[in-house]
Amino acid sequence: MTANSTAGEYAGASQGAIEHHYDVGNEFWKVWLDPTMTYSCAMWEEGDKLEAAQRRKLDWLIDGARGASAERLLDIGCGWGALLERAVERGARHAVGITLSPKQAERIAGRDNPAIEARVTGWAEFKPDERFDAITSVGAFEHFARLGLTREQKVASYRDFFARCHQWLRPGGWMTLQTIAKGDVAFDGQGLRDFAYIVKKMFPESDLPHPADVFAAIEGRFEAVAMRNDREHYVRTCEEWLQRLDARWDEAVAVAGDEVPRVYRRYLEACIRQFSRGHAGLLRFVLRRVEPGEPFRFGGAS
Ligand SMILES: C[S@@+](CC[C@H](N)C(=O)[O-])C[C@H]1O[C@@H](n2cnc3c(N)ncnc32)[C@H](O)[C@@H]1O
Repeated sequence: MTANSTAGEYAGASQGAIEHHYDVGNEFWKVWLDPTMTYSCAMWEEGDKLEAAQRRKLDWLIDGARGASAERLLDIGCGWGALLERAVERGARHAVGITLSPKQAERIAGRDNPAIEARVTGWAEFKPDERFDAITSVGAFEHFARLGLTREQKVASYRDFFARCHQWLRPGGWMTLQTIAKGDVAFDGQGLRDFAYIVKKMFPESDLPHPADVFAAIEGRFEAVAMRNDREHYVRTCEEWLQRLDARWDEAVAVAGDEVPRVYRRYLEACIRQFSRGHAGLLRFVLRRVEPGEPFRFGGAS
């Protein structure tokens, strides 16, 4: 990939790197995620249980993309399918998810819901036959650039992604994106050790965007209608996951052995520190497809 390209070689994490993290076994994830197996930051309100906070997040992202009224919704990096299921429950006619993890796609196929479909493909290889009315992408963008790229190369990879989304989305369509991003607080020793652990042990071949990278990458294709940084919501989500893992430790060891739960415990502790100290942020965007030359009118493009 050249620094300026918008359609160069894919610069994100490979299928092998994604499987390394996500295919440790669905039984292990079931032990500590909520029953919908949503694996991204929730959206909390006072008194929430994890499942309610995850559902609020899914609804915020579905609403932002106008997904409940979509004939066809695309979820890029669909995990085990929680957003697909919720979108269809709320009125979307057909929801397509793409993931690099075969085990995630297997679980979605096992639900036997004809309105939901999962394909094992990266976005760079994805070639849909028809356009979509709404696009969502939750917790996958973190994998779309590798560690070691220059900022220009990262932005070029992200621009390539948004160029495809622009093509796949019908004119006037909306997209929502949730991603972890680099924070503005410089690393201290602990922050650096935690970051190195997360990148080396948990997410090989991945790096985080800076918030400004996202704005540079959407230019000319999408405009940001809303953005929230909810990093405190990720502190709470990770704390909850950690408590759940600890509470069912013996089950976790029974399905995944001694090593995996130990590594995930260390990783969740590291994530809590990264978000609470401001080394990382959690961004949620509502994006509107830009239609060059077309005046936007209230109510006209939703
Ligand atoms: C942290 S999980 C989030 C899953 C889900 N969106 C959720 O919130 O529960 C990241 C997802 O991104 C997918 N992913 C990573 N790189 C991808 C790529 N290049 N194309 C499509 N999906 C990708 C992974 O397979 C996984 O499903």
